[in-house]
Amino acid sequence: MKLWRGGRLATLAGDSGWGLIEDGAMLVEGGLLRWVGPTADAPAAEEVVNLHGALVTPGLVDCHTHLVYGGNRANEFEQRLHGASYADIARAGGGIRSTVAATRAASEAELLADATKRAQALIREGVTTVEVKSGYGLDAATEARMLRVARQLTGLDVRTTYLAAHALPPEFSDADAYIAAVCDWLPALHAQGLVDAVDAFCEHIAFSPAQVARVFDAAQQLNLPFKLHAEQLSDQGGAALAASYRALSCDHLEYLSPAGVQAMAQAGTVAVLLPGAFYALKETKLPPVAALREAGVAIAIATDHNPGSSPTLSPLLMLNMACVLFGLTPEEALRGLTVNGARALGLADRGQLVPGQRADFCLWDGAHPRELAACFGHNPLIKRVRGGE
Ligand code: NIG
Ligand code: FE
Repeated sequence: MKLWRGGRLATLAGDSGWGLIEDGAMLVEGGLLRWVGPTADAPAAEEVVNLHGALVTPGLVDCHTHLVYGGNRANEFEQRLHGASYADIARAGGGIRSTVAATRAASEAELLADATKRAQALIREGVTTVEVKSGYGLDAATEARMLRVARQLTGLDVRTTYLAAHALPPEFSDADAYIAAVCDWLPALHAQGLVDAVDAFCEHIAFSPAQVARVFDAAQQLNLPFKLHAEQLSDQGGAALAASYRALSCDHLEYLSPAGVQAMAQAGTVAVLLPGAFYALKETKLPPVAALREAGVAIAIATDHNPGSSPTLSPLLMLNMACVLFGLTPEEALRGLTVNGARALGLADRGQLVPGQRADFCLWDGAHPRELAACFGHNPLIKRVRGGE
């Protein structure tokens, strides 16, 4: 048993509010928080750590990343600066497909070395749990390689998501035939223990709701939960479809309709907002934050790290962008990167500093948690504790 005492705790207990405890303490045993409260009331423990007034928050949960891939797409950044759109580049065979070529050409060791550097960057900003998607293999062997690499990342908890329905690979001309293959590959990957959830890209440059439904049906047979890249570039009705399958989350959502908001609210589907992609693609249509709030949809935020639309490795910058670009409050943004990020992954055991939760927390140089969202381009992390260690 170890007592961490003398910190300014932002517990995020309950459904709203910071849950501040000005001079707070946490008792940790077996990797879990056993007791949380004012230092003055803390139980005795064999080992005591003085937090010297550091700000303490739950560990960060980055619930949407594409961390494993080969190559990079800085050339497309230049093309977009010269006026090409993300969709133009994709239709011309670049975009996701160019990363697919680089990923297929990379060995497992190369992919792991690159992904490890990216994971280290997330860890340096306080991430304790990360979701990693496949989707740059688009064949059975490379999708499996990506998922294996994700599972080998160390220093943070990894949840893997099967996203083979991300783009049409060059060897297929018929999207329906490719979707059949995506469904066929899934059981073997699941049997190898490589899949925690299933995702798809529902968009005019990717797959239709009917095609996504076939992938969800295949996942449902294996009792796997769903997520969906929905309404990023246009309103396809993807969110309503995902909600009808009781998806864990719908992600992006700039073009989400009022009906989509209602469907998500009824299903308890989390809205994962991705300010990095919004910013990098110079999107001007804002996700319907006020409607999501009003309907009681839980909002998460994530880096969406990927080489194309969101090449950021800074969850802290996403806190700031979620506030400045999307109008979230700093508290909503921090909940989005902790407790609601965990919910978007189906994880109820982390994201708040309350008894029974995992002892995943961050110590920051600061006096109030809103400072984490207010500053940008600066990392005030002092220490990250995962599972009490
Ligand atoms: O979440 N929108 C689709 N998928 C990724 C981008 C993938 C890519 O451009 O490589 C996203 O933004
Ligand atoms: Fe994504």
